Amino acid sequence: EMIAVLIFTMGYLLGSVPFGLILARLFGSVDVRQVGSGNIGATNVLRTGRKDLAALTLFFDIGKGALAVLLAHGFSYHLYQQTGCAPDLTLIAGAAAFLGHCYPVWLGFRGGKGVATMLGVSFAAWWVAGVVFAVAWLLSAKISRYSSVGGMVGAIAATISVMFMPASHEIHQVYISLFSGMTILLLWRHRGNIKRLLSGQESRIGDPQ
Ligand code: G3P
Repeated sequence: EMIAVLIFTMGYLLGSVPFGLILARLFGSVDVRQVGSGNIGATNVLRTGRKDLAALTLFFDIGKGALAVLLAHGFSYHLYQQTGCAPDLTLIAGAAAFLGHCYPVWLGFRGGKGVATMLGVSFAAWWVAGVVFAVAWLLSAKISRYSSVGGMVGAIAATISVMFMPASHEIHQVYISLFSGMTILLLWRHRGNIKRLLSGQESRIGDPQ
């Protein structure tokens, strides 16, 4: 139990680092929350006109999700070596990082929408889900030219892929539950985007601000 709390906290803290906000403030001298959609993610950093900072935000937000999973995996493995048994806390840490990104304590729990972080978690948890996420995301964003559509389609596709994951029954259940949970939260975080999409007000990738 103690270990689960520790791993969860580690994931949450990692996930709660708002790289978009930090990078845009440090190197772009702008509060990304005052720009475009007000979101702290890479898409909105791109709206500040800084492609380089947007790319870095994407990279670090993916990285923190992946890192949370990899650290927890390493830790579980280490524990297993020592005690002969260890709960699989890998995906718990990933879900915690996802929560941390969406609801960071530092920003009064007003965080991002979770696309990049869930992508990183997916890659590290089961690489197939990561590839499915990335391909679905890139394709649908390219076709629709809406970043939000890409993120939502990617998350749903990754969750569907996990339903076909070869794993023991318990692990499979955990993966399906946590991927579904993250996707539902991700869609909820995109409710403003969904409204704008339905009313034709959503801005497309590359639109002038
Ligand atoms: O990752 C967030 C993206 O899906 C939408 O961002 O700024 O257009 O709300 P934004």
